[in-house]
Amino acid sequence: MPPTVHVTGDLPARVHDALAESFTLADGVEGVAGILSVLTTPVDVELLDRAGHQLRIVANYGVGVDNVDLEAARARNVVIANTPDVLTDAVAELTIALTLALLRRVAEGDRFLRRQSRWSFSLDFMLGRSLRGKTFGVVGPGRIGRAAASLAEALGARAIFAGRSAVELDALLQTSDVVSLHCPLTPETRHLIDAAALARMRPTSVLVNTARGSIVDEPALVAALRDGTIAGAALDVYEQEPEVSARLLELENVVLTPHVASATPETREAMGMLAVDALRAVLLEGRVPPNTVL
Ligand code: GLV
Repeated sequence: MPPTVHVTGDLPARVHDALAESFTLADGVEGVAGILSVLTTPVDVELLDRAGHQLRIVANYGVGVDNVDLEAARARNVVIANTPDVLTDAVAELTIALTLALLRRVAEGDRFLRRQSRWSFSLDFMLGRSLRGKTFGVVGPGRIGRAAASLAEALGARAIFAGRSAVELDALLQTSDVVSLHCPLTPETRHLIDAAALARMRPTSVLVNTARGSIVDEPALVAALRDGTIAGAALDVYEQEPEVSARLLELENVVLTPHVASATPETREAMGMLAVDALRAVLLEGRVPPNTVL
């Protein structure tokens, strides 16, 4: 009998078929050898204990693993795998799509027309800003941050980076026209962008977040957008998903998407196949796959 795996959400058909080919799919988590978790599932002490001590791997369907209690997994000797690389280009692409939508007022113009507002072409109507010649600041110079930077550079921006150093972050906040977040959510990066960080940005600068909502203090961001501390924000992720703070929805200088940065069929399939490969490596081949965080 093949090892049992529990899946915590719906899968693309090809990923489901690949999983079903190698494993027995279990309805519940109790007694399974592996879990394929979508990133909205908290993989916490409760889930790990309910699964039981025979659990050997959790393959997280996502590159971010902030939904996983890594300490609890380590204590139980459970391998944690994620899905890096295959989503890098998709996330970088959405980062630039959001940046341009904000700077060139794409979503605002769309809302304007849908309200059936009266308008006529004029030379000073709905002027936006170009990315060309601007400084694109990447917070978190990993794979996705570097890919977003090279797309921004292709459009004529100058990319700068900040890693873990507070001095670097301060300099980036003070000099960037676009501050784009690409770090993982960890205890150290929770509310990295708080009221004080926003106050260091320029009144003409914008914040882009395709990483995790809780890297930003959302109420502080709303306040900064309302009082002109910064010029705008483009967000794919939120502190209390799927809730989006009502006060963000009221603002014109904001572009919002519903956590879709990796949402293309090709990318989602590739992520799923990588997760299936990790389950196969640990449960069928007795080896540790390269895409593990624990
Ligand atoms: C998506 O948010 C991911 O972490 O893959």
